[in-house]
Amino acid sequence: MATSERITARHCAHGLLGSIRVPGDKSISHRVAILGALAHGSMRVENYLCSEDCLNTLRAMQQLGATVTPGAAPQDFTLTGCGMRPAAPQRDIDCGNSGTGMRLMAGVLAALPFQSRMFGDRSLSSRPMKRIIDPLTQMGARVEACGEKPGCAPLRITGGTLHAIDYTLPMASAQVKSAVLLAGMLTHGTTRVHQPAVTRDHTERLFTHFGIPCSVSADGLDIAVTGPVDITARDITIPGDISSAAFWLVAASIVPGSELTLRNVGLNPTRNGIIPVLQRMGADITVSHRVDAGEPYGDITVRHAPHLHGTDIGGAEIPNIIDEIPIISVAAAFAEGTTTIRDAAELRVKESDRIATTAGNLRAMGANVEERADGMAVTGGAPLHGATLQSFDDHRIAMSFLVAGLAAQGETTLEGCGNIGTSYPGFEETLCGLEQA
Ligand code: S3P
Repeated sequence: MATSERITARHCAHGLLGSIRVPGDKSISHRVAILGALAHGSMRVENYLCSEDCLNTLRAMQQLGATVTPGAAPQDFTLTGCGMRPAAPQRDIDCGNSGTGMRLMAGVLAALPFQSRMFGDRSLSSRPMKRIIDPLTQMGARVEACGEKPGCAPLRITGGTLHAIDYTLPMASAQVKSAVLLAGMLTHGTTRVHQPAVTRDHTERLFTHFGIPCSVSADGLDIAVTGPVDITARDITIPGDISSAAFWLVAASIVPGSELTLRNVGLNPTRNGIIPVLQRMGADITVSHRVDAGEPYGDITVRHAPHLHGTDIGGAEIPNIIDEIPIISVAAAFAEGTTTIRDAAELRVKESDRIATTAGNLRAMGANVEERADGMAVTGGAPLHGATLQSFDDHRIAMSFLVAGLAAQGETTLEGCGNIGTSYPGFEETLCGLEQA
């Protein structure tokens, strides 16, 4: 079901209670579509994220020759790969709102012997692509940014035989790391990537799942892949997305009387930083039924935390919580004292400038926020009031402020919520269900 453009959240006088199953992980879904679509043979995919972003990647890979056979539910299907012989796409590839889809697929397309073109929506057409163009060009591909804004999409890629490189990432980015590793897996020799901080390692874990030779240094900063590889399909179940669970972790923490259990949520240690950050702020969060499959997952129970307090967030933990900073900032506005967020300048080049959009919306609700070049300082404790706010074309901003609206006085209306469906189809229904329960 499509998400409404305008959603209102009301002050919730009763606690948020119940059990929630959040949809499949977005980062893993993109990667499963890309790797499974290249493979030999068929695989069962369970709990794929049927959001616009991930469906765009799946459609793109179908253009390269993969086929999808529907299962009993939309999120479960059989993916049949093209047997490492992708076809040239007949049309331009629509990446919609997804930086992950575009950057990761660029890595694959750079190593294929044809020309392709990828485009996206207004937000994606203003996001930096030089960060993938540089390493892929060093490997021998021709990648042209044809957008109105320099260095931005649409991208025209003339791929072919590449050579392996050693590449030091200028910023901690799992997308750039993955673009280089995906190109490297299709290239003769060993491609090495050095990252300045550990970023989400789903690509490396999926390489292991598919038997692709990949090594990671003990500190997690250096990754090597040796190609060219031959991928064989292998069934996979995708855990729930901790970045979607994050909204309910904060909602239950700030609405008095709440207790929620979030089932089957991914707990990858390069992604689960929101749990220790909120615990440091005094949140009541416990993890149970932990399973260590290729990706760890488990159930998370969160209860209202009457005494949240501020904390300092920065350094190496930033890549681990990069998508959760808007909702952590909302928690900070309900916490006593000051929360400082630093080293997070990457937030300025997400679906919106998330430092500016988070700070602006928090202020509109009456919070005390100091915006900084690489983060912000939020001093909480005073009650927030409802407001009419913009999502700025950004799904996570929309969801963060709807959650804030549950604990603020009065009503909070978010305009431009349609793109919540890019990452969390069903968010609106879950929100309404919790409000009415
Ligand atoms: C992602 C990596 C992160 C994150 C994005 C998804 C991924 O971006 O913000 O939502 O799936 O690799 P960067 O790697 O550019 O920081």
